[in-house]
Parts: sequence; structure tokens; C-alpha cells
Amino acid sequence: MRTVIYPGSFDPITNGHLDVIQRASRLFDQVVVAVARNGSKQPLFTPAERKTLIEQSISNHDNVTVDVFEGLLVEYVEQQSGHAVIRGLRALSDFEYEFQMALMNRKLNERVETLFMMPRASYSFLSSHLVREIATLGGDVSAFVSPEVREALTKRLGQAGAN
Ligand code: PNS
Repeated sequence: MRTVIYPGSFDPITNGHLDVIQRASRLFDQVVVAVARNGSKQPLFTPAERKTLIEQSISNHDNVTVDVFEGLLVEYVEQQSGHAVIRGLRALSDFEYEFQMALMNRKLNERVETLFMMPRASYSFLSSHLVREIATLGGDVSAFVSPEVREALTKRLGQAGAN
């Protein structure tokens, strides 16, 4: 049974994240999407809300579970008996941060491997940060997130997010 951990802030989950989850679920027996509790300082959604939104958005994958973790990722990976960590790489600009994090995690625990997966090219510009900004300013985010996330953004940000 090969288990992979897909950690992130997911504030909120985007179609780019969903694309990575779908790809990972074809390669591994079990994918654990792990929402970091101590990520962004002022998240739009609580960890529990982010978890629910992910669960609603991935309802069609039976080998994907969603969890919230806090503390060090490498410790969480051990607790879950994970075999690897997956991170999405959208563009070269992601590389430096991801490379640093992967090597630091390896330094903290030699057994934790990081694998990078590229989402579909049409999602290479997509980020939770931009989705939050567009929704806050009343733009249409329906091409970038699931209907459940779009609705949650509308509720959280008021009618402006529904355009
Ligand atoms: O979606 P993000 O914000 O890029 O995800 C970053 C995340 C949550 C994967 C990273 O901050 C993390 O692993 N946090 C847990 C704490 C930890 O282990 N920090 C050391 C990383 S080298």
C-alpha cells in the first residue's frame, strides 16, 4: 500500500490542486491531502472549512482522504506511514521555494522523499492567492475553482464574489 501526502494551505483549493490530486490518485494507492493548520497567518477559511471544501470538490476519488495537520510536515508523514510528499510545480518561479523546502525536509528526515507533479499547463497561472483576490474584487472565479468553493467564496466575501 503506497501512501502519498499532498500538503498545502489550500485556502481555497483550486482546479490546479484538483488536477494534481487526480494525477497522484492514479499513481498511488492512497493520497492524503493534508491541510496545514499553521500556514498563512490570516487565512480566508479555517482549516476545517478548507478540509470540507476539498472533500466536496473531490467526491469522485475513493482513494483520496483529507486531513488537517499541524507541526512539522516530516513528522506528519511518518505518523501517516507516508512514502512520499507530492508538491505541484506550476512554473520555474515555484522551483526555488519548492527545492529549498524539499531539501530541508530531507535534512529533517532522510526517509521523506518529495515528488513534483506538473498540473495541466492551462492551470500554470492559477493560485489560491489570485483566486481570493479576484473573488474579493467581484471577479468571476468559476473557471478556477469547483462550484462548492465558488459558493463558499461568495458567502464569505459577500455578493461581490458572485459576479
Ligand atoms: O500551499 P503552501 O502554502 O505552499 O504549503 C506550504 C506547506 C504547508 C506545505 C509548508 O508550509 C509546510 O510543510 N508546513 C508545515 C510546517 C513545516 O514542516 N515546515 C518546514 C518546511 S521545510
